[in-house]
Amino acid sequence: MDHFVDIHIGVDAKTGEPKIWSYPSVTNFNIIFLGGSGAGKTHTIHHMAANVYVRGTTLHVIDIKGDFAHSNFEATGLGHMLHPEDFNEIKFNYYQDGCSLNPLQVPRTEEGGGVVRTIEYVKELVKVFNPQSGPKQLNYLIEILKTVYTKSGIDHDDPETWARQSPTLIDVLGEIDLIFNALTGGMDTTTVADIFKAYGQAKNQAEKDIRKMKIDEEPNSAIEERVQEIRATLEDTLKGHAAKLINFDALTNRNGARSDWEHWSKETLYSLKAIIQGMVDSRLFTGNPSKPKQGKINRYDLTALSPAHQQVIMRIIASQVFAMGVMETKRNNAFNPKYPAHILIADEGKHIKEISVSPISPFNRIGTEGRGYGVGVWCGVQQPDQVTKDLLKNFATFFLLKTPDASYQEITKLFGVRPTLLKSLLPRENLLFGTGGPYSLVNHFR
Ligand SMILES: Nc1ncnc2c1ncn2[C@@H]1O[C@H](COP(=O)(O)OP(=O)(O)OP(=O)(O)O)[C@@H](O)[C@H]1O
Ligand SMILES: [Mg+2]
Repeated sequence: MDHFVDIHIGVDAKTGEPKIWSYPSVTNFNIIFLGGSGAGKTHTIHHMAANVYVRGTTLHVIDIKGDFAHSNFEATGLGHMLHPEDFNEIKFNYYQDGCSLNPLQVPRTEEGGGVVRTIEYVKELVKVFNPQSGPKQLNYLIEILKTVYTKSGIDHDDPETWARQSPTLIDVLGEIDLIFNALTGGMDTTTVADIFKAYGQAKNQAEKDIRKMKIDEEPNSAIEERVQEIRATLEDTLKGHAAKLINFDALTNRNGARSDWEHWSKETLYSLKAIIQGMVDSRLFTGNPSKPKQGKINRYDLTALSPAHQQVIMRIIASQVFAMGVMETKRNNAFNPKYPAHILIADEGKHIKEISVSPISPFNRIGTEGRGYGVGVWCGVQQPDQVTKDLLKNFATFFLLKTPDASYQEITKLFGVRPTLLKSLLPRENLLFGTGGPYSLVNHFR
């Protein structure tokens, strides 16, 4: 089975002729499913998804309502096409066993925009996750992210380094702590890090030696002596730092390199820390990384998340799906394929607009640039205003189901359907099917 085998949509309500569709026959990979509540969008998406999947496309389904598990497809009558092992369950929740997506992951291709674009994008996410975050906090964040990437050996100007292990928000927290302590102590972050490290190492060493010497049944006096030795070494290190920091020369000729953060406000930095800590505490961005699989129906189960968090995760999923498509296309040198390798399915209109208002949003990028890289997006929406005008221009296949009469005028305007055709729509019964030319009324997917 491949994409050159037509998919049977249903029969033309007027002529009784079968209606077929296939990816190679349309100009891009994006599909819109429009219909009021209960009209049959999810039913239609189930049928399309099963048919496209068995023809070899990897699916990424954002599941907001719990509509896309194997059992749901079974209930739609598609149990003969899909099996439980076709599904890769990626569950997000606020617990340790849930999956995470690291927004700091640098896409490994130039199209991803490297470190610069990733930083810009993390900034956007932090703003979405925490709408109260202000420009000052976000500017600090940008500086901190630059440092964190440098420390991970990832350099924007050297794409070879982008594949290195990306830092996480936990590294960002660590850097915030360093700067906070450096600001408090009026010293540089390297010194702060050295001091904390020296203390931590001494403490670990002492604890380890005490345990070992106790097991070896050495006398307490010997153990005490060993601890004092370790402390003496620590004192030397700390004295060295004190001497370096507190001397006439250092305090009067401040000609050393000044850091950007030297004049930062501790309050702002502290509030930024609270924001990042909140993101870490949600467990959505650090911990078990989600592992989408090729050749599967990847179901990103977001049912347990708050709407705001669903949106944040949707953005990251969209950006990773796009990155996957770009990477594969480049690897296989397969630009402008006739059918998609990856389809992102979002059957929840109200979020789609929110996450696609910015032209650089990953959702829009799939919509506009996805075709060349074998990536497409399917949107299920209840009203035409749930998709942006920009995204609307980029659908090649339309499934228009029954909507309330009040929306006919707008649908006529946006989709060019005659109102008389819209009046023939019945929920769960038929739809208007179009691929650029005139629409046909189709009794679909029985
Ligand atoms: N073509 C059809 N044939 C038979 N049953 C259908 C058909 N379309 C929809 N149904 C049934 O009608 C009900 C509502 O359909 P569905 O859940 O797809 O609506 P929806 O448009 O996704 O609604 P919502 O916007 O509330 O998610 C479901 O039980 C579904 O199985
Ligand atoms: Mg639905």
